[in-house]
Amino acid sequence: MFQIDRITSPEALADLLERGRRSMPGGVCSSTRWNRAWGRPVYARRAYGARFEDVEGREFLDMSMSHGASLLGHAPAALKAAFDAAWELGVMTSLDTPLHIELAERLCRIVPCGERVRFTGSGSEATLHALRLCRAASGRDKIIRFRGHFHGYHEFTYIGGHPPADQLAARPPHRESAGIPAAMAELVIPLEYNDPQALEDAVRRHREEAGTILIEPVDYNCGCILPAPGFLESARELADRYGMLLFFDEIQSFAKNSPGGAQQDFGVTPDICTIGKSLGGSLPLSAILGRAELMDRYAPVGDVAHSGTFNAPLLCILGGLVFTAEIERPEFWQTMQRLGARLYAELDDIAKRSPLPVRFQHHGSRFGIIFGTREPVTNYRQSLCHSKETMLRFCREASERGVYFHDYGGAACHHGYSLAHTEADIDTVLEVVDAAML
Ligand SMILES: Cc1ncc(COP(=O)(O)O)c(C=O)c1O
Repeated sequence: MFQIDRITSPEALADLLERGRRSMPGGVCSSTRWNRAWGRPVYARRAYGARFEDVEGREFLDMSMSHGASLLGHAPAALKAAFDAAWELGVMTSLDTPLHIELAERLCRIVPCGERVRFTGSGSEATLHALRLCRAASGRDKIIRFRGHFHGYHEFTYIGGHPPADQLAARPPHRESAGIPAAMAELVIPLEYNDPQALEDAVRRHREEAGTILIEPVDYNCGCILPAPGFLESARELADRYGMLLFFDEIQSFAKNSPGGAQQDFGVTPDICTIGKSLGGSLPLSAILGRAELMDRYAPVGDVAHSGTFNAPLLCILGGLVFTAEIERPEFWQTMQRLGARLYAELDDIAKRSPLPVRFQHHGSRFGIIFGTREPVTNYRQSLCHSKETMLRFCREASERGVYFHDYGGAACHHGYSLAHTEADIDTVLEVVDAAML
């Protein structure tokens, strides 16, 4: 009934692309799914383990893995039990169960800042609702954020993150989509990452109106920029000194290097964080975690609204139980570290001998590719050397050789492997990366 037939002629493919264009803007359900390297949408037929097949029947070794959401692989065996159980239990939307409590308890055990949890679907929803809470609790509307970091597509945060080179100092900051009101941009104070002096100056200057310091602690959304030693600590100290809330957006960094995310990796505990992507084991599940008295500002205990018909459907909670059970097994981390060690050592060699200046930066199971430099990239300004054209050519060349890197419009973003990748897969990826450096 739900079979997707393989397309066998150029005419049939052209017809499908046309049907897509006519029924969905650009033929896609997410603007960034229109693949600039391919010059068209990527339509998939099925996915399994570390691979997917497109509608033409071409198989790709997947180095996107749903942008990090499919960390257990596509269709991991353990998830089948969740689908069966949800059906048996009644699928259940808009009803909480003891299993919701079990997952919340587990997350409080795993994530250092977690004393209470609220679930959302997407990461964008999570950051939106968390920022509303931060504004209510701090009593101050402005947020301090960092260029190169990404926190979702909504009006609170799609501002000042990735401005063009001539807009770095724009006031109010650059809005990243048409339709975002100029008034929203007045509420955002973007800074360069890893510059403690700039942060201290901004915190002092804006202490009356800014109540939140929002950080993507590992900046995967700019080619994987790590926090400089001491930077997160100084953010923690400044937040405490000026009565601000420290908010780590760990939608991506959760469970990429350790179960507890960057706050575990770098030993700095925020007041509040968001986690997501892989949390649902490929199903849409994100969460807000934080200190008890802060989280209890949410109604019905407090006065901050957070509700939704599709908050925490049971199936996604079961996906979360499957995923968290996996990351509590030491063998999960041994496998991920073994794969990473093999991949990153060899990528560094490729970078050394590549005719193109390129740099690979990594943290846990995800890494960035930055074309245009061989030097460490520590902030957004430095990342502007990245060549989008080279990146798109690289993605095209790699996919022609059977390895899929998502194009991100050519931006330096993030790629990664999953539990389903084997050492042989990593070797294939390395061969293709080497060959695609044209
Ligand atoms: C750090 C971070 N925050 C928020 C988001 C938004 O999450 P979603 O795409 O689930 O809305 C992303 C997605 O890439 C992200 O990487």
